Amino acid sequence: MAQEMREFSDAIDKGLEGVVACSTAISSIVDVTLTYCGYTIEDLAAHSSFEETAFLLWNKRLPKSSELKKFQENLVANTKLEKDYLEFLRGLPAKNVHPMEWLRTAFSGLALWDKDSGNNSLEASQKKALSILGKMGPIVAAFERIRTGKNILESKSDKSIAWNFLYLLNGKEPDPYHVKVFDTALILHADHEINCSAFSVRVTTSSLSDIYSALTSGIGTLKGPLHGGANEQVMKMLLRIGNMARCEKFIEEALNNKEKIMGFGHRVYKNGDPRAKILRGMSEELGKRRGEPQWYTMSAHIDNIMQSKKGLLPNVDFYSATVYYCLDIPIDLYTPIFAVSRASGWLAHSLEQYSNNRIYRPRGSYVGPRDLTWLAPAQR
Ligand code: COA
Repeated sequence: MAQEMREFSDAIDKGLEGVVACSTAISSIVDVTLTYCGYTIEDLAAHSSFEETAFLLWNKRLPKSSELKKFQENLVANTKLEKDYLEFLRGLPAKNVHPMEWLRTAFSGLALWDKDSGNNSLEASQKKALSILGKMGPIVAAFERIRTGKNILESKSDKSIAWNFLYLLNGKEPDPYHVKVFDTALILHADHEINCSAFSVRVTTSSLSDIYSALTSGIGTLKGPLHGGANEQVMKMLLRIGNMARCEKFIEEALNNKEKIMGFGHRVYKNGDPRAKILRGMSEELGKRRGEPQWYTMSAHIDNIMQSKKGLLPNVDFYSATVYYCLDIPIDLYTPIFAVSRASGWLAHSLEQYSNNRIYRPRGSYVGPRDLTWLAPAQR
């Protein structure tokens, strides 16, 4: 027994840093290079589309043009939210709730409208993956429309997921540059190896639970401020700081108080997050076009301060905050948008886990007391 416990203690690494939990052919991080199925994120951001990226993640290869066309058609055909489901969404509290809490419940509820929700065959799971990815954007947009008392719109069949999301959210045809930027942001957030939410998706899948349960776990995990919730906190911080002159003092005080600055640091990237570099350029350009360059300049200044004071570099959440702000997206929707994109990666992980499954069942190193004897309440 003592021997066994010592072995467990030796194996513990708080936060599982450096632990390899599974094999995956979906995405890989080597130093500052992130690849999806062998393609660098820079290559995909410059040339691909979110739909093509999702196909890549699920099939581990790029589609031929006829396959891509069919995939896009299938996705958009799956965007429609059933009337009864919309009634269910309208019945959920939408005022004074965080959209990620609403999304967790809304998404979990979606399973009740899918007669195949518990069918884990490959064919049914692939069908569900298309349906889920098609509906994620419309569900998040429906939240915004419901809470602001606006009618819920339907996707246009000849448009992309990025175009349709901005349209469903704002009710007007989006600027083509905004669509391009948003599509790129969706690509950049699509997958990220065995991050916290992908791991929770895989753990839930590994019990042979259904794909809706797996993604509900993912949404709940992404919500946390140490994971997907950071982008929203970054924008709130910038608004609180207000101007360039106040950046240094603000950051200094926060660091002195041992607070974490959201959007900085990473468990894996120690030499910089390649997604942040791409988003930085997008943030600068969007800010200029919008006539509000200050959000980018403040961010770049904070980036320098963090490097010099803490040696920490920005992660994906830092510059995506100002990108979304300049796209006029409500701040509390930044993390739900992350979920819209990351659903493609979660689905890929769930499908991969089903295809080569063994239940995740680690051990814990017990550190509490032993050999106690129960006493009646009056004797304690
Ligand atoms: N601001 C200030 N200090 C930070 C920091 C940040 N954003 N991120 C890490 N640090 C410091 C920690 O305080 C710690 O310092 P210490 O050794 O003096 O205690 C050290 O760097 C290591 O950080 P730690 O939290 O142990 O790293 P981790 O690998 O467990 O966590 C993150 C990684 C991403 C969760 C962490 O960097 C963080 O909380 N960042 C802010 C939230 C965020 O942006 N999340 C999005 C991730 S994509």
